[in-house]
Amino acid sequence: MQQCSLFILTLLCVTVKDISGSWEEWWTYDGISGPGFWGLINPQWSMCNKGRRQSPVNIEPDKLLFDPWLRDIQFDKHKVSGVLQNTGQSLVFRVEKDSKHQVNISGGPLSYRYQFEEIYFHYGMGDNRGSEHQIDHHTFPGEIQLYGFNKELYHNMSEAQHKSQGVVGISLMVQIGEPKEKNKELRLVTNAFNKVMFRGSSYPIKHLPLSSLLPDTQQYLTYEGSTTHPGCWETAVWIIFNKPLYITKQEMYALRQLMQGSQLTPKAPLGNNARPVQPLHHRTVRTNINFNKQGTQVSSNCPDMYRNMHYTARYSHRSRSKKSIACKRKNVQKKCHKK
Ligand SMILES: *[C@@H]1O[C@H](CO)[C@@H](O)[C@H](O)[C@H]1NC(C)=O
Ligand SMILES: *[C@@H]1O[C@H](CO)[C@@H](O)[C@H](O)[C@H]1NC(C)=O
Repeated sequence: MQQCSLFILTLLCVTVKDISGSWEEWWTYDGISGPGFWGLINPQWSMCNKGRRQSPVNIEPDKLLFDPWLRDIQFDKHKVSGVLQNTGQSLVFRVEKDSKHQVNISGGPLSYRYQFEEIYFHYGMGDNRGSEHQIDHHTFPGEIQLYGFNKELYHNMSEAQHKSQGVVGISLMVQIGEPKEKNKELRLVTNAFNKVMFRGSSYPIKHLPLSSLLPDTQQYLTYEGSTTHPGCWETAVWIIFNKPLYITKQEMYALRQLMQGSQLTPKAPLGNNARPVQPLHHRTVRTNINFNKQGTQVSSNCPDMYRNMHYTARYSHRSRSKKSIACKRKNVQKKCHKK
C-alpha cells in the first residue's frame, strides 16, 4: 500500500515538474490551455488576460488615420540563414544566432533600429480562417509575421520582448493563388514544410533573402500592441503591409499536413493557430496611404493629421487642410483581396 502511494506521489511530482519546467511549451490554441487561459496558466503572462493594448486586432478601414510623417520602412537586403521549426504551437523560422550579417529593420513608425529574429506562420485548416489580424472583419487564410527586437536598447529578443519598445512585428496577410511572378525566395521556405511535420522537428534554411519576401509596396498600417503569443507583452509596434503574399494551393496543403504532436502521438493538426482578435480600446491605427491622392472621394470631416489647429504655426495649415483625406477606406480592403 505504502509502496503504491509512494509510486503515485513520485509520478505526480514528475508530472508537475514536467509542466512547470516547460511553461514555454505548455500552451495551445484551444481547450483549457487556449488563448482565454494563457494569462491564468502562468503569472508572467497575466497581460494576456489583463492587457488593454493587445494584438491581434481587427482593422477598421474607415477609422484609419492618415499620418503624412510616416516614413518608408528600411529593411536590409542581406540574406539570412536559420532554422525552420515545428514548435507544436506554430511553425517558426529563427535566424542563426551567430550569423555575421544581421538584418536591420528601421524607418516607418519605428524610433529605433530593430534586428530581425524570427518568422511565425499562422494559418487555417480551411480557407475561411487563419490570419490573426483582420481587416474589416475579414480573415485571411494565413498570416506571416516577421519579428525583430530593439537592437539599440536590448541584447536579444528574450530581454527585449517584455521591455518598452522592445519588439517590431511585420505582418503579411497570406492569400491563396498563383503569384504573378514566381516568388523563388518564398519557395525556399515552402519547400521545407514537409520536413517539419512533427513537434520538435526542424530544418535548416540557408541564404534566405528576407527582404524579397516583402510585398512590393511601401503602403502599410501601423499600431501599438503586443506579441500575439504568450506572454502577450505590450511592447510591439505592428506594421501591416497593404498587400498580401500569395502561396499556392499545394503549399497550403503541405502546411495543413503539419501536426502538433510527435510522430508517435501526432495529436491534432498544427493549423488554426491564431489568437482571436482583441479589443482596440481606443488605440489609433495609422497609415501612410494618402487616400486623397489616390483619387477617391473626398469628405470634409475625415480624421487625418492635417486637421486645422488652433495654434497656428508659421507655415500655412490652411492650404493643407483643404486637401482633406478621403473617408472611404474600403479600397484598403479591396487591395487586400486583389493584387
Ligand atoms: C545594422 O546596423 C548596425 C549598426 O548600425 C551596422 O553595424 C550593421 O552593419 C547593419 N547591418 C547591415 C546589414 O547593414
Ligand atoms: C539575453 O540578454 C540578457 C542580458 O544581456 C542575458 O542575461 C540573457 O542570457 C540573454 N539571453 C539569451 C537567450 O541569449
